[in-house]
Amino acid sequence: MKKVTVDLGDRSYDIVIGCGILSGIGERLKPMRFSPKIAVVSNPTIYALYGPQVMSSLKEAGFSCFAVIIPDGEEYKDYNWTYHILTELLKQGLDRNSCVIALGGGVIGDITGFAASTYMRGIHFVQVPTTLLAQVDSSVGGKTGVNHSLGKNMVGTFYQPRLVWIDVNTLSTLRKRDFVGGMAEVIKYGIIHDAEFFEYLEKKMANILDLDGGALVHIIRRSCEIKAEIVSQDERETGQRAILNFGHNIGHAVETETRYQQYTHGEAVGLGMCLESRIAEASGTLKPDDRRRIDDLIAAYGLPVSLSQGMDAARLLSHMKLDKKTVAGVMTFILPKRIGEVVIKKGVKGDDVIKALR
Ligand SMILES: NC(=O)c1ccc[n+]([C@@H]2O[C@H](COP(=O)([O-])OP(=O)(O)OC[C@H]3O[C@@H](n4cnc5c(N)ncnc54)[C@H](O)[C@@H]3O)[C@@H](O)[C@H]2O)c1
Ligand SMILES: [Zn+2]
Repeated sequence: MKKVTVDLGDRSYDIVIGCGILSGIGERLKPMRFSPKIAVVSNPTIYALYGPQVMSSLKEAGFSCFAVIIPDGEEYKDYNWTYHILTELLKQGLDRNSCVIALGGGVIGDITGFAASTYMRGIHFVQVPTTLLAQVDSSVGGKTGVNHSLGKNMVGTFYQPRLVWIDVNTLSTLRKRDFVGGMAEVIKYGIIHDAEFFEYLEKKMANILDLDGGALVHIIRRSCEIKAEIVSQDERETGQRAILNFGHNIGHAVETETRYQQYTHGEAVGLGMCLESRIAEASGTLKPDDRRRIDDLIAAYGLPVSLSQGMDAARLLSHMKLDKKTVAGVMTFILPKRIGEVVIKKGVKGDDVIKALR
């Protein structure tokens, strides 16, 4: 079992990572002195797999608990289902010292965190992430939110959990495609911050893809450490936190252009990292050898490295110009200098982006 502490003063919290620790959640929460009734928010897919273990662990630790189940899918991460969650919490009489647990992937984590941050102006919130993406990215850092019909993740809060409890064994039931998508964010941490970690991902690929417990605990722990370090220096993304967006300018444009139908988020980010590395190479900041290593690793994990036929570069560029990361028409990109270090580059020209896309 490994522990990473997110250092945010009196809002600091632990991320605990281990194999087969799911049924230890009740014991871990016991000393935290929450009100005795706990809500567990999940969806039918995840709840069928892991709900019973979590519920019996909570009961054994002396809590009474109830489940709030919302349908499975990104399209339910919205205001109406937030309202539903809040209604269930009110009906069950949760008070200001109560705790809500998110049991699931990023969708469940985001909507549950959002509901927890507004219920009675904020109650305790615990994340039990069950996808690789949620374990290395969405459960860490305190961004919560839901989608609006006019834009993705447009409504939300910064709200830190009290604990993140990660059992890597839950990844055994995850779709391969979702697992590989999560690997894009893991690779991202290597490129932006840790060359040695990047090398580990090259060398231990077989162990990781075989879901070897030790390898999984290592990559999740290191990913959480890197994200925690960056977030604790810049919680509200006024500066350095932006480096976490590497691969995401082009990635988001690709997702928008394909209406979130063709690529998973991780696939789009993998592609974005390759193409943004090309911008870095063309502008002379990144050596060709490093650029190739990035491409090779992303491809080796089964992620796309070039745009599919027929994707229009000019349309992608127009999406990037409309993105919330573009301010007053100035496009900012995160560009690798070498593996393990990136720079925030303001004022990247449209033409240079187009060249990388072709
Ligand atoms: N808050 C943040 O900082 C942040 C960061 C990145 C992404 N996000 C958000 O995260 C969401 C994507 O998260 P995701 O990729 O985890 O998707 P998801 O939550 O939709 O999960 C993917 C699928 O896997 C299923 N699933 C989850 N755990 C499982 C398991 N252990 N076994 C079998 N099936 C399982 C889910 O039911 C779902 O069908 C998006 O809404 C995105 O906006 C948030
Ligand atoms: Zn991402």
